[in-house]
Amino acid sequence: MSSRYDRIGSDYRRHRKEDARLARLIASELRDARTVVNVGAGAGSYEPTDRFVVAVEPSEVMLEQRSRASAPAVRAIAERLPFRDEAFDAAMAILTVHHWSDHRAGLKELSRVARERIVLLTWDPRNEGFWLIQDYFPQILKADRRRLPPVERLLNFLDDSHVIAVPIPHDCADGFLGAYWRRPSAYLSAEIRGGISSFAACRDLSPLQRLEDDLATGEWQRRYGDLLEKDELDIGYRLVVGRPTKAVAP
Ligand SMILES: C[S@@+](CC[C@H](N)C(=O)[O-])C[C@H]1O[C@@H](n2cnc3c(N)ncnc32)[C@H](O)[C@@H]1O
Repeated sequence: MSSRYDRIGSDYRRHRKEDARLARLIASELRDARTVVNVGAGAGSYEPTDRFVVAVEPSEVMLEQRSRASAPAVRAIAERLPFRDEAFDAAMAILTVHHWSDHRAGLKELSRVARERIVLLTWDPRNEGFWLIQDYFPQILKADRRRLPPVERLLNFLDDSHVIAVPIPHDCADGFLGAYWRRPSAYLSAEIRGGISSFAACRDLSPLQRLEDDLATGEWQRRYGDLLEKDELDIGYRLVVGRPTKAVAP
């Protein structure tokens, strides 16, 4: 089983730590589920510690970064989960669905193995995003819009669903693409970009020079300085929650 994260994930944990506020939100949406499968689990962020959790992760490199204390993990893919029907109360998949080769097959599997609840964290490709991808890296915005499934499509796999906007705190501990919206110089760090898969796929890094220049001249502050007053910002991250549907078209 070869995995993209075997190539790009070696330093994942350095900047991709669980953010406690997002963890609380995810845990509250899992409601009273006692058994949870975390699909695309990576190094174990957001796995609740007060329930029985099994992690599913295809990348050896990511599995190696799980701590000894974290939940037991199975090396497998979302598209073929090695569990019986309704084996868990809930399934969660955090910032991973867009990495699956067949998100439809994966979501059908989540619906099959979860009895009561599915909780997905994703970025809505219909959202306009934020200054980094609007102004400096429109190629990332374009590519991410192609690779992330629209939220409406995810809803096809859920009954009684709802979508929760997840504003990103200005000091978000989990260094995903939008995490540094109020810390612009962070994007100049190759180490930080190394934890962001959108940058791994981006060939032209020349806009970083413009960002560096704009920060030095005050141009960035002139255009985006009002963001420095905000504590959190909605830039398109969404929790998509519902009951597993047993009626997805084949
Ligand atoms: C951005 S990481 C998110 C990891 C973790 N959920 C977190 O929030 O830190 C995406 C993860 O999805 C995993 N992944 C990629 N393809 C997958 C698939 N087909 N099935 C399950 N997981 C997959 C990757 O190996 C990687 O660990």
